[in-house]
Amino acid sequence: MVLIEKDFDWRLRVFDSMSFPTLILKSDKTIIAANEIFLKQIDQRLSQVAGKTCKEIFRQHFPYQHFSCTDKQCPLQKTIKYKTGQSVLLKIKDPDGKERWEDRVFSPILGDDGEVKYVIESFRDVTRVKTLEKMYSGVWELIDKVVQSSVQAIIAADRSGTIILMNHAAEELFGYSVTDARTFNIEDFYPQGTAREIMKKLRDENFGGRGKLPLTTVNIVTQNGVEVPVEMTAAIIYEDEKEAATAAIFNDLREKQAVEKKLMETQSQLVQSEKMASLGRLAAGVAHEINNPLTSILLYGNMMQEKLETGHPLRKNLDYVLEDAGRCKEIVKNLLAYSRQTNPSKKIFQLNKLVEEGLRLIHDQKRFMNVKVVKELSADPIFINADINQLCQIVINLIINALDAMEGTGTLTFRVYQGKEREKAFLEVIDTGSGIPEENISKIFDPFFTTKELGKGTGLGLSMAYGIMEENQGRIFVKKTGPEGTTIMLELPSARIPKDILYLSIG
Ligand SMILES: Nc1ncnc2c1ncn2[C@@H]1O[C@H](COP(=O)(O)OP(=O)(O)O)[C@@H](O)[C@H]1O
Ligand SMILES: [Mg+2]
Repeated sequence: MVLIEKDFDWRLRVFDSMSFPTLILKSDKTIIAANEIFLKQIDQRLSQVAGKTCKEIFRQHFPYQHFSCTDKQCPLQKTIKYKTGQSVLLKIKDPDGKERWEDRVFSPILGDDGEVKYVIESFRDVTRVKTLEKMYSGVWELIDKVVQSSVQAIIAADRSGTIILMNHAAEELFGYSVTDARTFNIEDFYPQGTAREIMKKLRDENFGGRGKLPLTTVNIVTQNGVEVPVEMTAAIIYEDEKEAATAAIFNDLREKQAVEKKLMETQSQLVQSEKMASLGRLAAGVAHEINNPLTSILLYGNMMQEKLETGHPLRKNLDYVLEDAGRCKEIVKNLLAYSRQTNPSKKIFQLNKLVEEGLRLIHDQKRFMNVKVVKELSADPIFINADINQLCQIVINLIINALDAMEGTGTLTFRVYQGKEREKAFLEVIDTGSGIPEENISKIFDPFFTTKELGKGTGLGLSMAYGIMEENQGRIFVKKTGPEGTTIMLELPSARIPKDILYLSIG
């Protein structure tokens, strides 16, 4: 309980001890009281101030303060009208040029009739608060700029999962704009169940600590429903120990994965090339050793065959010997091609011609049975500089392989085209056959690898093709294979020919 001395007007003491200048005004704006600090500021006594309006006092003592006191704007007037406190924030430039902020607060004192009897007007210097506010907004602006210009995608969501922040990189990665994204939940940004899994890990002490998710690889879902692999880190933002929001940073992994894949392919190609080179040397050695005795076998065998009349009991046996020796000769020829022991004779010709020639040279047209042949040749001439006979051998082999895989029915397509830069020429041989099992893809170019029954395949077709392509600065590889069929790709450098040669008839 507060004891009040009889003659002591404690209210005046309170008023005087207020640390900011304060006036008490009547509703006609005349001053009836001013506290000590106010009077000190204008170096006046109360008697010199009382009875004057606040406007008069301010004109006299602070003429540099440009605050228009029209009735409409006057907070005092509003205080009386609405019977509630009012305030006005003013930026004041003092005569010394210094700027400061002043908050003028008007509070009503109501009489017994409930009407406003007096108004207290106090002047508070809020320059410090304003300066801090400005500083913080500057810091915020900077943070915003840093976030927005980050190449990493950054998003934040509130506790319910609603997106509250999304930088430009995130807009690009997810395909949403911040305004769209606000109508979505963070769960829509991941495949089903992933968001929950991430939150579980975030809260788990054992995953990089509470509230943190160390670098993790996941898939996200973009606006058009595509899943994209990303590397992400995330954190829970706590306020007073409670989860307030989550923030996550993403790195698109598509490019990195593509580079890694390419690297792996190159590595396996390198291994394949090394394997081929050593097998090539071996094959060349064997072929050389066999070639001479084989030539004599065929020579003497043929001489004997000429001597033996048709009905001779040994004639049939000799025919078998010669037939098999012929097969051996074919194998040796392929082995030599594979090991690059033949000399290619290169000339410039059109790639379309290769398809026509290859098809023409297949002796046994019956092999095609019900297979439909489609030729998607190039409309513009594509020239290459290679040994057409060698390349025909390859095409024939690819056709035979495709026909074997289709077992009599299907479509065999030849597609001839050029790369964008016109640096490379392509020929695809596409079949609708059984496809090559995954485990065989790395073996099909090895000499003697065959899945065909004895006597049908030698396993030399593709290995020979590999050798020939290398010799002609080209490549052969499986572009696609599966139950729908196989696409074998031949890639060759396009020949650069001077324009005038184009008018000559080239192959
Ligand atoms: N178009 C194709 N479709 C399915 N398998 C194929 C195809 N081309 C090649 N192959 C597989 O590759 C193996 C090796 O082919 P190749 O070197 O031509 O030898 P060959 O035809 O004598 O077996 C074949 O036995 C077959 O298993
Ligand atoms: Mg073959």
